[in-house]
Amino acid sequence: MKKIKLFDPVVGQTEQSAITKTLKSHFWASGAGTNNVLKFEMQFRNYTGAGSCIAVNSGTAALHLALSLIDIRGKEVILPSLSFVATAHAVIYNGGRPVFVDVEPDTACLDPEMVQAAVTDKTKIVLPVHFAGMPCKLDQISRICKKFNLVLMEDAAHAAGAAYGVKKIGTHGMAVCFSFHPVKNLAMPTGGAITLNGKNQAKFEADLKSKRWCGITDRIGAKYDVDKLGWNFYMNEFSAAIGTEQLKKLDRLNAVRKKTAKQYFEEIKIENKMPYDKNCVYHFYWIRVKNRDRFMKYMSANNIETGIHYKPIHKMKFYDKDELLPQTEKIAGEIVSMPTHPNLSESDISRIISTANRFE
Ligand SMILES: Cc1ncc(COP(=O)(O)O)c(C=O)c1O
Repeated sequence: MKKIKLFDPVVGQTEQSAITKTLKSHFWASGAGTNNVLKFEMQFRNYTGAGSCIAVNSGTAALHLALSLIDIRGKEVILPSLSFVATAHAVIYNGGRPVFVDVEPDTACLDPEMVQAAVTDKTKIVLPVHFAGMPCKLDQISRICKKFNLVLMEDAAHAAGAAYGVKKIGTHGMAVCFSFHPVKNLAMPTGGAITLNGKNQAKFEADLKSKRWCGITDRIGAKYDVDKLGWNFYMNEFSAAIGTEQLKKLDRLNAVRKKTAKQYFEEIKIENKMPYDKNCVYHFYWIRVKNRDRFMKYMSANNIETGIHYKPIHKMKFYDKDELLPQTEKIAGEIVSMPTHPNLSESDISRIISTANRFE
């Protein structure tokens, strides 16, 4: 029986040609952000409709840099604990304090009421995660940000191509962070991006372009200056070349993911599961099962890979916090991620559904 993987990038001839072309060009990377990287940035900015786009070498770097735009030293950032640790690490990298807030049981995204309740006079940023590609309630969260004069940033690592209202994810928050890790909807060997919106966007763009390359500024030919601390976070030419090809397919591939998710929503008999929403891009599809270990072993015995997203961040040794997050903990104890990648055949999808439905 064929093994069904949880994640699998869709690659073809166009990615292969792009890689070969880049290899032969002998121009593989540059902190200056020219060639393929510049092209990808412009394409992704146009695709989302954001004010600017800065390409970096991971979603983690995107979060790290985005949060550096606001001085959060000794201040608080509100975020979900149900996320990849990088979301919270980015707060710590910048000297801030992560304040974990509970999620809604139906979407597993930040609960706006809980966000409002967690605001203090130290809060600076609200950082929601569009969990599994499901856009969180940005209108309500934006209203809270306006009311308390907070900055909205977003972790859209799962949400390339998703929309909220009539606008694409990437156009709402002051900074929106994407990951292009190979498992993501838009896959690269490694990569990420920050889209920027709002009145300081041009200034922030220049700041981030410098910070992604060791703080280098005012570069003319071989001469440059450094006016701040920066990192080696720039994207390489191979990732950008693949990204350009992946971006051309993104809407088509996301449509396939949505179709698969709709079928899961309608046909998987397990009651507690991810809702269907046409604006969601289904990075994966989650279900909740009481006996998770047994379920995952059973799926694995049937050659179907499943996953856990996530052990909550506040339960990790490094964070080890006593926050009371009842929904997060309940979800985290039962959640199972199911494959939605577009390499699944119709018979793979039927096999996943019928196998899950036979679980007792
Ligand atoms: C929610 C979330 N945030 C941030 C990241 C970090 O992205 P990257 O792996 O590209 O650094 C990931 C990636 O796994 C993620 O899932």
